[in-house]
Amino acid sequence: MTKGEDLFKKITAHCKEYGFIFPSSEIYDGLSAVYDYGHNGTELKNNIKDYWWKSMVQYHENIVGLDSAIFMHPAVWKASGHVDAFNDPLIDNKDSKKRYRADVLIEDHIAKLEDKINKEVAKASKRFGDSFDEVMFRNTNPRVQANLNKIEEIKSRFVPAMEQGKLDEIKALIEELEIACPVSGSRNWTDVRQFNLMFSTKMGSSADSASEIYLRPETAQGIFVNYLNVQKTGRKKLPFGIAQIGKAFRNEIIARQFIFRMREFEQMEMQFFVRPGDEHKWYEYWKDERMRWHMAMGIPESHFRIHKHDKLAHYANAAVDIEFDFPFGFRELEGIHSRTDFDLGAHQKHSGKKLQYFDPETRESYVPYVVETSLGLDRLFLAIVSYAYTEETLEDGSERVVMKIPPALAPTKVAVLPLVKKDGLPEKGREVFDMLKYDFSCQYEEKDAIGRRYRRQDAAGTPYCITIDHETLENNTVTVRERDSMKQERVDIERIAEIVRERTVLRPAKRP
Ligand code: GAP
Repeated sequence: MTKGEDLFKKITAHCKEYGFIFPSSEIYDGLSAVYDYGHNGTELKNNIKDYWWKSMVQYHENIVGLDSAIFMHPAVWKASGHVDAFNDPLIDNKDSKKRYRADVLIEDHIAKLEDKINKEVAKASKRFGDSFDEVMFRNTNPRVQANLNKIEEIKSRFVPAMEQGKLDEIKALIEELEIACPVSGSRNWTDVRQFNLMFSTKMGSSADSASEIYLRPETAQGIFVNYLNVQKTGRKKLPFGIAQIGKAFRNEIIARQFIFRMREFEQMEMQFFVRPGDEHKWYEYWKDERMRWHMAMGIPESHFRIHKHDKLAHYANAAVDIEFDFPFGFRELEGIHSRTDFDLGAHQKHSGKKLQYFDPETRESYVPYVVETSLGLDRLFLAIVSYAYTEETLEDGSERVVMKIPPALAPTKVAVLPLVKKDGLPEKGREVFDMLKYDFSCQYEEKDAIGRRYRRQDAAGTPYCITIDHETLENNTVTVRERDSMKQERVDIERIAEIVRERTVLRPAKRP
């Protein structure tokens, strides 16, 4: 097991042990790629949603909210292209009987070549020290060049094959690259087939009249079909945005990475409607704005990177991913897509209803262009807990696991802990708890020794513990213990709320 795999396993176990995430229907052995959120998980998720909603809707005058239904008219998915094109190419290994996404097998192969290049660069950088010129090294080192050429060659076949749905070519590439099944080690592959990722069900009571409908695979289409309703009722002028948080469903072929790739998940999406021709300006704006939003959480910048798409989705003319450094490597966290007028144009055509905007400045009517930001709530949750999970050896040799969740997002902000369960300390503790509970998510705990209670709160990510001791009864002061530094300060009871508020507030960075 690699270091990353080991860490990921620990994070998954920790999430269950501390009430963040449980496998769905666990008493029936679980349901693959479906998860439930426990108390701490729900609080963390709600805090992430709140942070996103406030940043998008409350702080932007020209963005409004929407909560559209999961079920939509089946024609929506025909118009959007999902019925015909929301497919993944799948391939089975005949020996292990394991199923894979054919494109992921090739992408993993490319990632291994990139890894080799990065290792060469790191080695050389160590050898040459300050005088190391990375650009020159990449351009001249024969081993790096050979691997770069291999990557280019693969991409020059892979990208068009994916865009044009050439499944034979994808299979040929897997064979030529000698990609083996990670389980059986064999290269005994079936043909590549397309697999539509939408779940469908029947709506209507009688079998004859029931019609097939889909569980939405993205929240975005609910926004597109409501574009006119929102624009007219809100009397919005371009550019303006519509934001929505909601469930989406995809019948993922491979779903082995905990909450990274789920079959039922939540998205936080914002569609920004702009004048045609302005889309690149707004695409750059949102790329920048979304990165700033992630940075403001307090997770170091080195955990994020921007990845430009080689292969564009059927609706986009430009797209990037914001990637996060998960324990299994950099992977997509959020997508920023310039979707042109593809969606509104398609819905206009299929519904026969005009979805145009009359521009009072140019006195023209047109179908607006769209730049979207699309973030997976569960994926950001995983990013945060992956970053937060920390094992520490303390000065006295003891060990602790602490979840360094950004304080503003922490499930519980304050724990109130009487030092002992007697001498009037629990009563005083309850008083403090009652004083704080209307403003902060708080916990009151009196069971076990104080050290064990601190450890439990550390493991759940609680940034502040308030300890009530005998001195509290004398002078109305308590100790405030900070989770990461474990430092304690003595403060007046009256100041607790002010201190906690000050230290747990999160505002997206202002634009320069
Ligand atoms: N409306 C555009 C759209 O849905 P996407 O790249 O397919 O674009 C957007 O999805 C985001 O949704 C991804 O960046 C990811 O964070 C999240 N996401 C997609 N599929 C997911 C899955 N199966 N499980 C968890 N999150 C997922």
